[in-house]
Amino acid sequence: MVSSDRLGDLFPTEEEVPESFRVSPLEQTEFLVDGELRQWGGASEHVASPVHIRGDAGLEQRELGCYPLLGESEALDVLDSAVRAYRSGQGDWPTKTVAERIQHMQDFTFRMKAQKAEVVNLLMWEIGKTAGDAEKEFDRTVDYIDETIDALKDLDRVSARFRIEQGVIGQIRRAPLGVTLCMGPYNYPLNETFTTLIPALLMGNVVIFKPPRLGVLLHRPLLEAFRDSFPPGVVNTVYGDGAKVIGPLMSSGKVDLLAFIGSSRVADILKKQHPKPHRLRCVLGLEAKNPGIVLPCADLDLAVRESVLGALSYNGQRCTALKILFVHRRLLDRFLEKFSQAVDALNVGMPWQADVSITPLPETERVHYMQELLDDAAGHGAEIVNRGGQSEATLFKPAVVFPANPKMRLYHEEQFGPVVPVLPFDDVEEPIRYVTQSKYGQQASVFGKDPDQIGMLIDALVNQVCRVNINSQCQRGPDSFPFTGRKASAEGTLSVSDALRVFAIRTLVAAKTNDLNKDILERIVRDHTSRFLSTDFIF
Ligand code: G3H
Repeated sequence: MVSSDRLGDLFPTEEEVPESFRVSPLEQTEFLVDGELRQWGGASEHVASPVHIRGDAGLEQRELGCYPLLGESEALDVLDSAVRAYRSGQGDWPTKTVAERIQHMQDFTFRMKAQKAEVVNLLMWEIGKTAGDAEKEFDRTVDYIDETIDALKDLDRVSARFRIEQGVIGQIRRAPLGVTLCMGPYNYPLNETFTTLIPALLMGNVVIFKPPRLGVLLHRPLLEAFRDSFPPGVVNTVYGDGAKVIGPLMSSGKVDLLAFIGSSRVADILKKQHPKPHRLRCVLGLEAKNPGIVLPCADLDLAVRESVLGALSYNGQRCTALKILFVHRRLLDRFLEKFSQAVDALNVGMPWQADVSITPLPETERVHYMQELLDDAAGHGAEIVNRGGQSEATLFKPAVVFPANPKMRLYHEEQFGPVVPVLPFDDVEEPIRYVTQSKYGQQASVFGKDPDQIGMLIDALVNQVCRVNINSQCQRGPDSFPFTGRKASAEGTLSVSDALRVFAIRTLVAAKTNDLNKDILERIVRDHTSRFLSTDFIF
């Protein structure tokens, strides 16, 4: 591994950490079950930051604390708590009105906002996200909750009326599905966990959530808010080794809904653990290998700017990142020069520093993996064409690798880090073939100015990926747009409004239109004898 003293010097000494960003170790000994923060006296997992501290003995990872490593029996307690709260759909939460659930969620949001500073600081220390991005992640999550509440009100208003068709009168609503297991990824540990957990709860499901292995402590400040905002057992947490704590949950057959953002390998294992897979609804966000395609008619500066953002925001650790670039040979030399310069101009440093783009990777294994990819690419004839590829501890300077080719791992694997493979092409059929043969199908970016060429490419791509971005990096937002993927990239669609549908099932009450039934329905609605069958309108 190439190492550089200069990179190591970017880590701070203890005194150099600004006062406002200092962090004290957080020894988490509780988990949320049955509406209480239950103490755990067993084994714990030690948490170390990607940020190292420079001291006399060299670089040392900053200790952040620990969290409980629960076992099977605690996981099953958590499951029982959720099953009890759901009570086969008869529990307090699933039978609450939409307006009541919204009230609980608003209480939660109020309490959550009070914890912002601590959550944002932990996001920076635990996963190395920049201060700006960590704050954005928090704010975006709060906005997501507010928008989801508005979308639910809209949905409920539409469902508040009866329909009469072919002599049948009916009211159609969306009802919960049951016990939901939510597991988010380390790169957006708060936002992506909450984009499933929040709609699942609002629709009346009960939730067990397991934070990602990297990104646990930042949820700790929110546990009281969950405990105090929802009835017992509606929100529960588990921590620990997936095989020990998630295996028993899935194989119990009592999980009705799996919301998982992670790898397709783990998703397959979880699905197969369920004894009756047909009873398990899944919402999955999986890997992607989104290509950027730079056409000969591209505006070079714009393509470079968006490609840098797309490939390297948060060190390339986004499922939506541009993970391979196809550049037409006519622009190739100029693109490589400008792109390499722009990548080299990115500031490398600590998450709290202003204007920093490249921060420490969450663990040294990620750095080793980047190096393996570079070695493999070199063995297949590629070079690093910028001034990147050096590493020290968890810092890794972004590398632009050229020419990539199908023999190398970087062509196929989702690198999820700061290494950008670039390929030349002569005929647009070449990137199209790549997309068609790829295991993944999330998004693509097309850079160009000619509407004919772009139009043709859009039509070739839209049946292979789920979003084609024109002269723009790939991204998930705005959150009101559908976020999904084909092939091994996703199952189900998430967006503010789609998520409400995913976490519920359309259920109706219907009756032949006759005097008896009309009278019954009228009296139920007038006297509020049902919580489901109702024409109440939420303002
Ligand atoms: O990691 C995948 C995220 O959903 C990407 O979201 O495009 O807003 O960064 P983003």
